[in-house]
Amino acid sequence: MKVLLAGDFDPGEDEVWRRALAAALPEAHWCSRAELDAGQVAAGEIVAAVVANPPPGSLRGLPRLALIQSLWAGVDRLLADPTLPAGVPLARMVDPAMTAAMAETALWAVLSLHRGFFAYQQRQREGVWRQHAQRRADEVPVAVLGQGEMGRAVAARLAALGYPVQGWRRDGTPLHDVLARAGIVVNLLPLTPATRGLLDARAFAAMPAKASLVNLGRGAQVVDADLLAALDSGHLRHAVLDVFTTEPLPAGHPYWTHPRVTMLPHAAAATDPRSAAAVAAANLRAARDGGPLAHLVERQRGY
Ligand code: GLV
Repeated sequence: MKVLLAGDFDPGEDEVWRRALAAALPEAHWCSRAELDAGQVAAGEIVAAVVANPPPGSLRGLPRLALIQSLWAGVDRLLADPTLPAGVPLARMVDPAMTAAMAETALWAVLSLHRGFFAYQQRQREGVWRQHAQRRADEVPVAVLGQGEMGRAVAARLAALGYPVQGWRRDGTPLHDVLARAGIVVNLLPLTPATRGLLDARAFAAMPAKASLVNLGRGAQVVDADLLAALDSGHLRHAVLDVFTTEPLPAGHPYWTHPRVTMLPHAAAATDPRSAAAVAAANLRAARDGGPLAHLVERQRGY
């Protein structure tokens, strides 16, 4: 079977994926968009595509495409490409190593916020020796927005540490009721038209005074000006941000130097080629053999 591998890869990253995928599915012939465009492979022979945030247009003109397998968990950029072939099954990545990494990042952020470790880091920089009151985990309610693979894993790990955890999904309890009870809000929602701009001034006002936000979903779910206002007024204590409306975050953006913001460069959880290649291979085999496909995206819903 001929499979297109397309993505917005860092130098050398496509080779890592090609090797991992070739090991997981030795019977496949892997090719790039450049090879297709150069006529080295016929477009009509491509039966599946494995993609990692590919440039728009990467999947055009492939008449026999039977599966698009994303190496990214979030498919918002893919769905925003108007040339994405309609009617071809699209699967998002559910990688156990990535889910575990996301849980680690969420635990680090929640533990650091709960115990005030970011504040201690700041005091060290200022040469200040001063303790603050210590709270128990059961005194810090955490809301986890998004109840997919990652949201559920994060919620379970936090609950195991003793935090009162409330999960939220879009069709459940009204969001602001959940926010009103949360000392820490962890966002793991997919980016869809319904979640774009969801975390705005009204959402922050609904959160209790001195609550904190951990955004591990997508940057466009947060209204940046509203978050900065909530932090500057002191209503919100701190924000841990992994994702941004524009990535890389532009130089000079207030988040870079804000004393109440801790940033990661979209590094909370990367797909791990060692485990994700096997997940992709299983779906490619299923597509070839007419078996059931896993982790299919409902395009209308957006995830
Ligand atoms: C990362 O943000 C992903 O969607 O895989």
